[in-house]
Amino acid sequence: MLNAQSKPNLLVARAIFPEILEKLSDYFVLETNQEDRIFPSQELVQRLQGKFGMLCTSSAKVNSELLNACPELRIVSTLAVGYDNFDLAACSEAGVLATNAPDVLNETTADFAWALLMAAARRVTESEHWLRAGKWEKWSIDCFLGADLHGSTLGILGMGRIGQAVARRSIGFGMKVIYHNRSRLGPEIEDASNNAEYVSKQDLFAQADHLVIVVPYSPEAHHLVGAGELAMMKPSACLVNVARGGIVDDVALIAALKEKKIAAAGLDVFENEPRFHPDFLELENVVLTPHIASASRKTRLAMAHRAADNLIAAVSGRMPLDLLN
Ligand code: DGY
Repeated sequence: MLNAQSKPNLLVARAIFPEILEKLSDYFVLETNQEDRIFPSQELVQRLQGKFGMLCTSSAKVNSELLNACPELRIVSTLAVGYDNFDLAACSEAGVLATNAPDVLNETTADFAWALLMAAARRVTESEHWLRAGKWEKWSIDCFLGADLHGSTLGILGMGRIGQAVARRSIGFGMKVIYHNRSRLGPEIEDASNNAEYVSKQDLFAQADHLVIVVPYSPEAHHLVGAGELAMMKPSACLVNVARGGIVDDVALIAALKEKKIAAAGLDVFENEPRFHPDFLELENVVLTPHIASASRKTRLAMAHRAADNLIAAVSGRMPLDLLN
């Protein structure tokens, strides 16, 4: 613990749990944002003046413009596994450490990918809306027919730690797993991931009965899933995205859902969230959630501790566990 005079300043750029503020206040003088506004970039720069560090989320864009304007900044810690909001090269050039909060959210995010997959394939939200609208008059043989998950082939795009957790859950459903990744995984990881089979991107889209996207966002991954990929998919297939919105071309996905080129989708992320393409609201065959895949109480607290611990390590002269640059 540092004494008040030697404590550096920290901007906690979004609202966070009180126990995390308490923990951080042993090491830093805090400026907080308990009303949880997203600071416009100019205000963020202004609030970062004289700050040693920032605890932020994906809503804070850290680029050379911001870094040049904040010469005292030494560390930026995001409370997320995804760090596409950080320009890592610019951080390194400015001598600023950048950290994320990985691992602790893998299982919770995989659970949610399955929630979306099950809801989309078995038309849970669509049929619930219909029931709530008072349209249910009788049981009938073809009422909301969906697609089976058990016994089907699950495709996973991006077989990192979350992708592997998604794959492990498919064992109970008796599914076959195929995946595509930048590089093939080692045999032990493939075995533990329900004997996942590495396939080309084209085979992934063509062979999967259902597809879960868990690939990290990067400029190269922008619209990795577009009209061409969607056209390769089976008309009975469901697509789930719990990664980042920009990976899927929303306009192409809307067209594919409208024209029933694929059966359904489950989306937790959107290209310009919290805004999203209004046409999604017109479609019944899509399940829409507000970026909550990691949002269990336990996991969000664990992510916040991890992000805080990275800051505390830096101020204590230790290497942060999750250093990215
Ligand atoms: C993550 O951890 O990247 C989640 O998407 C929350 O931003």
